[in-house]
Amino acid sequence: PEVKEFLKELPKCEHHLHLEGTLEPDLLFPLAKRNNVALPQGFPQTVEELNEKYKQFDDLQDFLNFYYMGCQVLINECDFYELAWQYFLKVHKQGLKHAELFFDPQSHTERGISVDTVYNGFAKACSKAESELGISSKLIMCILRDCPLQKCQDLVEKEAAHLIKEGKVHGLGLDSAEKPFPPTLFTNIYASAKKLNPELRLTAHAGEEGDHTYVKNSIDFLKVERIDHGVNSVQSDDLLRELSANKTMLTVCPLSNIKLQVFQDLKELPLLKLLEFGVPFSLNSDDPAYFGGYILENYYAVHETFGFDYKIWGDIVINTIKGSWCDENRKTELI
Ligand code: ADE
Ligand code: ZN
Repeated sequence: PEVKEFLKELPKCEHHLHLEGTLEPDLLFPLAKRNNVALPQGFPQTVEELNEKYKQFDDLQDFLNFYYMGCQVLINECDFYELAWQYFLKVHKQGLKHAELFFDPQSHTERGISVDTVYNGFAKACSKAESELGISSKLIMCILRDCPLQKCQDLVEKEAAHLIKEGKVHGLGLDSAEKPFPPTLFTNIYASAKKLNPELRLTAHAGEEGDHTYVKNSIDFLKVERIDHGVNSVQSDDLLRELSANKTMLTVCPLSNIKLQVFQDLKELPLLKLLEFGVPFSLNSDDPAYFGGYILENYYAVHETFGFDYKIWGDIVINTIKGSWCDENRKTELI
């Protein structure tokens, strides 16, 4: 109980959270009804049935199929706003102070929804979270790596170019099915995004199902300064030394890795090796509505498995704050 209070009170930041992954079954069904969206054939009919499905996924793709079906209920700006606001209310109670939030425009634009509808809804929730809950946040737009390349390029260079240029999206990320879509495919798109706004921060999912070369190539070709997941980096000591030397942060997602069967047991999560090599990492929830826990449940799970002492937890939290993409004043406030 005492350590749980300690974990709750830590000034936590989250770097790996998909806003669409916060769609709880108890919001999904009412939104489907409100927006007259017919869920696909065979989709669970009740909150209970859907929660039953979410107990275990075969792999990343099995999860993604449900994630994209869920996205279909999001239509209007107020839906996106409500989704994000529900997230902020939940994590506010868990001691979250700063959030860097992914969103996937292509899971909506494919259905005829504009990038601005999505962005405006999310951005409103972010402003309100800052003023009413004291949670700072940044939005990171992700490219779906399993969409046709031309569409990915159009997203960055046309549909969302204004958001990048004006600094409304703070970062660019890359997500969805990893293995058949190596990072090198996106080299030119990352370069042109950075050209639109040299201040744009860059990250990419890598080394979740893909091997360590996905991590190395994301750094070398996409010029990312952070890696999402990155757990397969431990396949290469050379890579670990490089991540450590450059202080490249891995945004690790413990409960996600279990639900998607990246690991069978949390004990396999390579945190001790990362600590040994001095590779900075943060702990994150990824898609909490699907993976059975928000930020604090991820901290609890790691604590139950590894039993870190106060010193190690302090180091993890300080690294997390330092690796955040907020300005230096905000970092000082958080520490
Ligand atoms: N989209 C949402 N969550 C994801 C994950 N863990 N990996 C890849 N794409 C995702
Ligand atoms: Zn993710």
